[in-house]
Amino acid sequence: MSLLILVISLVCLLRIHDCKTNLMLSFDLVKFSKFTLQSVTKRYRVSTVKPIKRMESLKMKLSDRLSGLVLPVNYNLKLHPNMEKGTFEGHVNIHVNVKEERKHIYLHTKFLDIKNVKVLKDNKDIPVAKFFEVAQLEQLMIHFEQALPAGHYHIDIDFSGSLTKSIVGFYASRYKDRTMVASKFEPTYARQAFPCFDEPEFKATFDIALVKPKGYTALSNMNEISSVHDSKTNTDVVSFARSVPMSTYLACFVLCEFDFKETEINTNGIGDPFTLRSYARKGETQKIDFAQSIGQRATEFYIKYYEVPFPLPKLDMIAIPEYQSGATEHWGLITYRETSFLIDDATASTQNRISVANTIVHELAHMWFGNLVTMKWWDDLWLNEGFATYMQVKALDAIEPSWTMLDQFLTKTMHSVLVSDAKLASHAIVQTVETPDEITAIFDAISYNKGSSVLRMLEGFVGEENFRRGVSDYLKRYKYGNTVTQDLLASLEPYFKKDHPDLNLTLIMDTWTRQTGYPVLTVTPGDAHTLVVSQARFLLDRSATYNTRDNQFQYRWFVPITYKTNQGTSKRIVWFPNEESNVTITLSPGDTWCKLNNNQVGYYRVSYTEEMWGQLIQQLKGKSEQLTLSDRAHLINDVFALATAEYVSYEVAMNLTTYLTVEEDYVPWDTADTEFVKLASRLENSLGGEGLRKYVQHLITPLYKKQSWDQTDIPVIQKLLRVRILSLAARFELPQAQSKVRELFLSWLDSRGTAGAKDMEPDLRSIVYFYGMKSASQAEWDKVWQLFLEERDPQEQQKLRHALSAPANTNILRKYLTLAWDQNNVRTSDYLIVVQYIANNPSGRALIWDEIRAKWPEYVKRFSLNSRYLGNLIPGISSTFDTEVKLQEMESFFSQYPEAGAGEAARRRALETLRGNIRWRETHEPTVTQWLNDYLTNL
Ligand code: BES
Ligand code: ZN
Repeated sequence: MSLLILVISLVCLLRIHDCKTNLMLSFDLVKFSKFTLQSVTKRYRVSTVKPIKRMESLKMKLSDRLSGLVLPVNYNLKLHPNMEKGTFEGHVNIHVNVKEERKHIYLHTKFLDIKNVKVLKDNKDIPVAKFFEVAQLEQLMIHFEQALPAGHYHIDIDFSGSLTKSIVGFYASRYKDRTMVASKFEPTYARQAFPCFDEPEFKATFDIALVKPKGYTALSNMNEISSVHDSKTNTDVVSFARSVPMSTYLACFVLCEFDFKETEINTNGIGDPFTLRSYARKGETQKIDFAQSIGQRATEFYIKYYEVPFPLPKLDMIAIPEYQSGATEHWGLITYRETSFLIDDATASTQNRISVANTIVHELAHMWFGNLVTMKWWDDLWLNEGFATYMQVKALDAIEPSWTMLDQFLTKTMHSVLVSDAKLASHAIVQTVETPDEITAIFDAISYNKGSSVLRMLEGFVGEENFRRGVSDYLKRYKYGNTVTQDLLASLEPYFKKDHPDLNLTLIMDTWTRQTGYPVLTVTPGDAHTLVVSQARFLLDRSATYNTRDNQFQYRWFVPITYKTNQGTSKRIVWFPNEESNVTITLSPGDTWCKLNNNQVGYYRVSYTEEMWGQLIQQLKGKSEQLTLSDRAHLINDVFALATAEYVSYEVAMNLTTYLTVEEDYVPWDTADTEFVKLASRLENSLGGEGLRKYVQHLITPLYKKQSWDQTDIPVIQKLLRVRILSLAARFELPQAQSKVRELFLSWLDSRGTAGAKDMEPDLRSIVYFYGMKSASQAEWDKVWQLFLEERDPQEQQKLRHALSAPANTNILRKYLTLAWDQNNVRTSDYLIVVQYIANNPSGRALIWDEIRAKWPEYVKRFSLNSRYLGNLIPGISSTFDTEVKLQEMESFFSQYPEAGAGEAARRRALETLRGNIRWRETHEPTVTQWLNDYLTNL
């Protein structure tokens, strides 16, 4: 064995040596051979200490990370896009501080044509021996003839690039017959626009100049300070004020022909007043009123909440037609996908409004948390994304209290991640990442949803005002700087200590942020009026094996336990230290039942004895006032997960749902909806499917009767409930709902384009378009396709795109898929969503699976392996696979294409889900089917 290792090490050594020789010999080599470097970097990572040492001795560092010894101070950057040609020219002058003598400087570059590199000290040229690009590392390497002494230098680079290569970096976005340019850099794409030190800790100031055609507006992070016309080229050079120190991923450049509306932000004396502007295409500024109103109120809220002034002189928001994600928090110039920003009052639904508002307040939260104070490295991404996700509910609760977003946190954010985090393929919140693929992959449910959930739990036991003060201190202490998780905890610690002098906040939180997963607490009655609580890692596969010693906390958590009984909510928290094997809760005389984890604020599940579940179900049925709507949603959510993992029988889970005939609140129904839809897809092709349909119809009928298909003026939360119930009714084929939907659909379709065409109520559109299309003929589909092509409103387009995926006819779906691939029909940034929609349809599932396997190389070419959207497509489209055949197909697909890029963890998740689905079918399907049969017979 050791001989084998020795041989392998020697081979590695030789390989690296080869590469090194290559590098040294190729003085004027610009693009390095991808193949050689790929094998080298791979070997480099798996190799033992010996070869690395050897590499160091040869002064050849192959690392994704840049040296911390060359620090950018300022970028002076000029970009000149040519929209006709789809290219841009650039010039950057980077002021750097070299901390130690060295013979080389490395910085990032990708897809750029580097034309000229000069290095200057005090305006004098320093001889550059060679410069070359290492494509595999996305780096530009500059080597000097003689070692540079420590000191200040300027790196001066001419370069050019393409605006049409991708939809990240600096790119062109087309709409109608117009073109605009925009940028999106987070996390590692600034290097596609200009050579730079593209890591969050390298904060520097920016002096930006953009060259624009006449008639265009140029925007960047800062305010414009000059515009100089060049009559020869008929262009303007627009210069912006020097920025505050910021990370490269926050820089942003836009050229467009948009109009704007503006509002003055009232800072209440915390900093100077400034202007908030929202931009929209000419003639469409009415669609930004909603965003502008949310933006203004949220910004004013954040200034008060953080007690820190907004540090820039202006703040712009703009929607870009072709857009990779939902939105990005570029400092002073937030960019959005159109559907995440524009609201047309005539067509937008309540859900559309809430979703736009959520996106806006999320990005605004980053202006401080993320932009002013930034994580040192992407390992701590959750500080950015978890925090902004949590601030969404706080900001919206403050500015739109009637939306009750605090309650909706459970169904919007926490419940889904409790599923993915109950898998072995999950990861810890604080996670080591290095390559661009690894970095982009952690913009995931763990960073966003689990991150925000553990912050909510933290706030729960620290207290709202203490939490706010700790956060405010943190922002003041680290402004313009970079931090790690510990810095946030240290700022909160003094406030926590006031009430918990004997506890250590860092230790408590480390158990949640530094190990994968979460616990289930098992509660059993103890002696005389006590409950004994133990804990274990919760996994959906209870029999899964893993090494409990692979992390320092050994899969035990420091758990804040809250509880309530028939006599009210307990005031104190019972702490369950990770080191203890169990804790005891002492009940009061007269306590007859007990529920742990008030409002599901704690990030854990609770398993009771069957008798205790029985008591809780009685309380639900009796509409106990003690159980809040979050408690009710919590019980539904927990009981299904616990039944899947075999902590409780499925009969108990199903029994619990019988209480829904008396449930009238949105959040519990939203939770039940998720569980029933999941169950329906598990029972799709079995006897149980029919039973479930009847059962859900039975449960919703009382509430369905109270809803109206006519336009009604009701509070927002009632609107959400109404849409949820009507869509459940349509989904589970309640006959009266089905016929109503089809009738509304046909009359809408017939009247479209005619003089008397009547618009449909915005809240009903999604349901009517989608369920109306279920039984659509080819002719009806073609008509809707035509409407989609002609539609100009992004949200209406989205509803139609979804509806087009509804038909049960596979031939129609095949046609849709073919048409959608053409980017004149469906934008690249929307295409994978269409694929997911079709895969959600049982009639389209096999079609998509065949398509993906057959065309994978084309997908990789179009979307790149670095796209986490492409990576996530695999678990997305296979989430309902539940056979050994599918498992084998998936395994052979992965071995045919072993390179997963940013989709590596996603593949592991997909396999684990598939195995779980097979297990579910074998273990639970008979029980659920039997229960449904018995229940329906007794009705
Ligand atoms: N910082 C992100 C933008 C981002 C997302 C950059 C993914 C790189 C990769 C931004 O704040 C964000 O989180 N946007 C979300 C929407 C938001 C409302 C949760 C997005 O784009 O999906
Ligand atoms: Zn974010």
